[in-house]
Amino acid sequence: MKTLTVIGGRELSGEVRIHGSKNAALPILFSSLLFSEAVEIANLPAITDVGAALALLSSLGVKVTKTGRDSILLDPSSARPAVCDPAVTGSLRGSLYLLGAAAGRLGELSLPHPGGCNFGARPIDLHLDVLRTMGLAISESERGVSVRGRPRGALFRFPAVSVGATVNAILAAVLAEGRTVLTGAAREPHVLDLIAFLRLAGARISTPSPGTVVIDGVPRLHGITYRVCPDMIEAGTYLLFAMAAGGSVTLRSAAPEQLAPILPLFSGMGARIGVGVDALSVFRKGRLRPVRVETAPYPGFPTDLQPQLTALACLADGESVICDPIFPTRFGYVSELRKAGAKIDAANGRALVAGGAKLTGAEMIAPDLRAGAALTLAALAGEGESTLARYDLIERGYADFCKTLGSLGARVRISDGVA
Ligand code: EPZ
Repeated sequence: MKTLTVIGGRELSGEVRIHGSKNAALPILFSSLLFSEAVEIANLPAITDVGAALALLSSLGVKVTKTGRDSILLDPSSARPAVCDPAVTGSLRGSLYLLGAAAGRLGELSLPHPGGCNFGARPIDLHLDVLRTMGLAISESERGVSVRGRPRGALFRFPAVSVGATVNAILAAVLAEGRTVLTGAAREPHVLDLIAFLRLAGARISTPSPGTVVIDGVPRLHGITYRVCPDMIEAGTYLLFAMAAGGSVTLRSAAPEQLAPILPLFSGMGARIGVGVDALSVFRKGRLRPVRVETAPYPGFPTDLQPQLTALACLADGESVICDPIFPTRFGYVSELRKAGAKIDAANGRALVAGGAKLTGAEMIAPDLRAGAALTLAALAGEGESTLARYDLIERGYADFCKTLGSLGARVRISDGVA
């Protein structure tokens, strides 16, 4: 297993190129099963979750051809239902999207249990409810979930906003018989990017009001070339790194409008933020102010930045309160932060951060992808040497993570520990 070593206490400065969004790339890649001809996807991040998605698509007969540094041609013309490798489906939450995508054109699929970050319960009831409402036969067993049948248009109101269940419903509805109307649907930029991609390929999808998606089934989709949108969570992560370490960092190939709803929160903590057409600059020299925030579906504060913000709050002057009602048990990393000297407690979905910590180097273990980024933030800001085991979890969602930090002046290295 790889370990990241960080010598903290240095400011960051320079430029970061933001990669394509992991959480847009996964639904877009899996939606290739809906096509009857080849489709090219570009700006794909070189992360292990994308590799896993491509392996699953190959196992279903999709022909995968690399066409450039970050682009892939997917030819699903000979795709068929097949057995998916449980080790691969179990390595990412996004494998769930195969249910909606397979239902759309293959007509059936047996999916071993999906995986995903283990920060607590990851139910799939909303996925199954909306697919059943669309007339699909869903059965669950100890091996996983299977879907069978032809989807037909339906009305469905989500009782809770779910990114994944919204994606699955859209994938099942694109080729369905008739109209599907989703209300209470997710509005994250990565969901909107999937919709933009499918519309370009001939799907009839509209979003008449926030949280409402109307899909009129079409007989087929036509092949296109599409660039995945920038990753707002990657951008937010590097922005928070710069705020923690101090210095001046510019994010290129970003989509500042994605983060617009939360930039005032960062400015309120003491960051000076500049916004360009496809760039964001952040500068932080002075003291950090505490924060009080609760995560919420977009355009609220994203739960995927909660660990990183909580780690930053450890450095602020005064007490911060960070609540995560979306994933109340997503605070497993707090015990690791305490090893670095953080004064923080977490319970009942809330972190109380005393602030004013003088973080020092520590030996830490990343519990999951975004927590790994949070512990890296603490290591960058802390004095001394830190090690972070399970760097492979970071590689799930951040391309060129160590190289990027090094290019910003951080003293980092990866060692391949004995497995
Ligand atoms: C997606 O997960 C993301 N993953 C997560 O990012 C992200 O944290 C999450 O959305 C919220 O933004 C991908 O896009 C691959 P949800 P997802 O369904 O779809 C409850 C990362 O770091 N719920 O929006 O699984 C659920 O428990 C990952 O990139 C049900 O109750 O999240 C949660 O409280 C981590 N039943 C809330 O809804 C269901 O069937 C939102 O979850 C589904 C979800």
